[in-house]
Amino acid sequence: MPLEKYQYLSNVWRDGIFDNKVVFCTGGAGSICSAQVRALVHLGANACIIGRNVEKTENMAKDIATARNGAKVIGIGAVDVRNPEALTAAAERCVRELGSIDFVIAGAAGNFLAPMDQISANAMKSVIDIDVLGSWNTVKATLPALLESAKKHRTDGKTEPPNGTGGRIIFVSATLHYTGTPMQSHVSVAKAGVDAMAMAVAIEQGPKGINSNVIAPGPIADTEGVARLSKEDGRDRSMKGVPSGRYGTVKEIADATVYLFSDAGNYVNGEVLVVDGGQWHTSSLG
Ligand code: HXC
Repeated sequence: MPLEKYQYLSNVWRDGIFDNKVVFCTGGAGSICSAQVRALVHLGANACIIGRNVEKTENMAKDIATARNGAKVIGIGAVDVRNPEALTAAAERCVRELGSIDFVIAGAAGNFLAPMDQISANAMKSVIDIDVLGSWNTVKATLPALLESAKKHRTDGKTEPPNGTGGRIIFVSATLHYTGTPMQSHVSVAKAGVDAMAMAVAIEQGPKGINSNVIAPGPIADTEGVARLSKEDGRDRSMKGVPSGRYGTVKEIADATVYLFSDAGNYVNGEVLVVDGGQWHTSSLG
């Protein structure tokens, strides 16, 4: 087979695949999201990361910027995803200073380990508000810029793929709600809502060029999620029944992110990409 038949491969497996792209990421100072953004920046993107803690967010932005010479990474702290006005202001600043928003990672989340009878109405509301409403607010705040980005890459043909990638969203979810997980009723409900939202966005905004997908990480080493699940009840149940026999790494979540935002993910829309070593097929965390 002549090599040129495979020329399209070079759109994915090459340096600088995300040159001139801008990623907007909530929860961007966290262990998983910072790795996702770092990979995109390494491959050419500039980034705006959003967080509640100013110092943590600004320091992480500086650190991520070292992934590539000349990278621009803005850390916008003191933004709670429960505040739609603050998110809109952050999105506007991102477009003003970096020129566009091509990719969005909705990664901000809240979690703690507690049985239902010890979760107050306000605790339940806090998690739903951060995970569900926060993801919704993130989409609403960034959608105008994402649609602009998608428009640049639309082609007219019925089978012609987009001319470059843009207008893409990844929601960071979980697998807790596939099987029912003790002490995680609040997060399970919230993440089911996040998954539903990703699909609704894909169906509704897909015709305008938006790709909306979910990454559902399993137990990922050195993350706040695993630390909370293991620390709070003194036993590490988070790795129970993982067929791959080990924790995942943040790099493996970053790799899945590169896939979905690259040309390799052009025709993937409304999907959940589970990256959990096969865990959810075998058991809940209980
Ligand atoms: C029961 C708790 C609690 C606990 C807090 N609350 N911790 N209830 N058990 N361990 C209650 C509080 O008492 C309060 O209810 C309500 O929750 C809100 O708490 P605040 O601290 O006032 O609110 P806030 O600052 O908004 O905190 C939100 C939070 C917190 C979700 C409660 O944990 C948080 O900010 N987390 C962000 C970071 C995080 O969790 N990252 C991990 C994501 S990992 P009352 O009734 O007293 O007012 C993840 C992946 C999951 O999501 C999958 C893992 C495999």
